[in-house]
Amino acid sequence: MTPAMYFSLGAAALLFPMLASAQGSPPAGDAAAGSQKIQMCIGCHGIPGWRTAFPEVYKVPKLGGQHEAYIVKALQEYRSGARSHPSMRAIATSLSDKDIADLAAYYAGAAPKTASK
Ligand code: HEC
Repeated sequence: MTPAMYFSLGAAALLFPMLASAQGSPPAGDAAAGSQKIQMCIGCHGIPGWRTAFPEVYKVPKLGGQHEAYIVKALQEYRSGARSHPSMRAIATSLSDKDIADLAAYYAGAAPKTASK
């Protein structure tokens, strides 16, 4: 093999996973996986009355029962900066598309209506 052949083999091996993930459809939300990721949300969104206590009292929106697509969109907007709340921006920038999909599936399904199943 010539050095050029080694190079193109290596380039193909590097490129393949990138192409595969770029072409993938948006990840489907997995509520069970989402339930493992809410630890970083319940500190604020799980408070009765939906208010933070520190450093100042402000209202925190209720997430359970929101539409899945709405939650996904909201998190993407915090991540991109289209929504500008500082704490939510900090959190959303740490989330992957898959995290967002899972969290949205979890919170969308966490409404009381699922209790009747
Ligand atoms: C530090 C407290 C805090 C944490 C932690 C937190 N949030 Fe939030 N979140 C807020 C506040 C406050 C708002 C309202 C911000 C605003 O007015 O834009 C909000 C808004 C949202 C919204 C938009 C709701 C709406 O009705 O528009 C979503 C969705 C959301 N958070 C999801 C999450 C998820 C998922 C996590 C965990 C990964 C999380 N948040 C962690 C405080 C927090």
